[in-house]
Amino acid sequence: MEFLIKSVINIRWLFDTILRLVQSNYLIILIVIGIISVCLYWLFFVPLNWNKHVDDWLCQKGDNGYRGKYKCATINRLRKARKVGAKELPPPYPNGWYGILESSSIKPGESTFVSCLGEQFVVFRSEEGTAFILDAYCPHLGANLGIGGRINGDTIICPFHQWSFQGTDGLCTNIPYSKNIPPATRIRKWISTEQNGFVFLWYNAESSELPWTLPISPEVENNGFVYQGRNEFLVNCHIQEIPENGADLAHFKAIHNESIIAGGYNPKNSIFRWLGQHSWHASWDYTREKHIAEIRLKHSLKFYQKINLFEIDVVGKQIGPAFVHLTLKSSIFGECQIFQTVTPIEPLVQKVVHRFYATRKMSPILKILIYGESVMFERDMNMWNQKLYRKSPILVPEDASIKKFRKWYAQFYTENSKVFGLRDNNDW
Ligand code: FES
Ligand SMILES: [Fe+2]
Repeated sequence: MEFLIKSVINIRWLFDTILRLVQSNYLIILIVIGIISVCLYWLFFVPLNWNKHVDDWLCQKGDNGYRGKYKCATINRLRKARKVGAKELPPPYPNGWYGILESSSIKPGESTFVSCLGEQFVVFRSEEGTAFILDAYCPHLGANLGIGGRINGDTIICPFHQWSFQGTDGLCTNIPYSKNIPPATRIRKWISTEQNGFVFLWYNAESSELPWTLPISPEVENNGFVYQGRNEFLVNCHIQEIPENGADLAHFKAIHNESIIAGGYNPKNSIFRWLGQHSWHASWDYTREKHIAEIRLKHSLKFYQKINLFEIDVVGKQIGPAFVHLTLKSSIFGECQIFQTVTPIEPLVQKVVHRFYATRKMSPILKILIYGESVMFERDMNMWNQKLYRKSPILVPEDASIKKFRKWYAQFYTENSKVFGLRDNNDW
């Protein structure tokens, strides 16, 4: 009883205090400070994450009346349409480095299964922190090491009968119920490296070709720039279409001019299209390093077609067939960097990830940049999802860099590259 009386008194005291605070405006001030603190924390310390998949896209925006209800029907219709251009397609998996997994996806002592490039991989991180990539399926009875495989030091233990395999060379080092390890029992080990926030895999149809060096970003590796967020897309197209976009200079004005507020889908019809106008001056060329090409962009944003708000200089290095390192510099905002990886998870389905880095003080600006880049990428994605690959397109002189790009990109297809066969076509 005494406890009950005390509780009622306490509640009353609390109620009176709140009432007094409200009357003296203190509570309102506290609430406003609280909201501002949460907003500031979000702006400066919470990375942004934006995901868009081919089915989300088609179904959200309404595809000939499907409007979200019949995702399977939409995707199947696309698959059928795709068969028309299948004969013209280049090999689906060009040679080079692929950022198949974001580093943050596996902690020390963890493993995961990754299916891409027509192969099945287990990616695991040793207890000391080194990432290794092996074939996913155990040579014993075929269990998937990426699903339930345990890590001990730098070995992975199969979840089925507990055989151990070394990350360094894939060799079997222990069979818990036998001393007779069959000689040379091993799983295929894939060449890998980890930098700029990704675990990269070396994929090459020619075993004789040695991996070239992937350039690192000192700003990101030395933690001068911090991680600001990411976006991820599943796109329905051949891998080559995505880097080709950088050499397709005419498309910038055609689909990227309208303000980001006009959205990613059909921006020319948006009522917000006049609010801001982006303009782009682009060039594309080879560099002295054989596997690196470069796009240079001068981007400016005009408010209501008149007032110049700011300019950004962009240099995008296309490093091999599936990785881009973008540096964006503005005299007003400073510098930021973006990494793009493209990974074929099926011959005609690409997983595209962008990760954004800048100094902490630029975090609020990066929120807008990530949103803007995602919207702009969706405009491209809407084209890729629906188009065919033209092997011999009709081009005008102004399209010359597309021709140049194709010649350059062809170096990543070699004699033994897997071809896009009828079976692949049926799969997708
Ligand atoms: S299947 Fe891997 S140890 Fe048996
Ligand atoms: Fe584009």
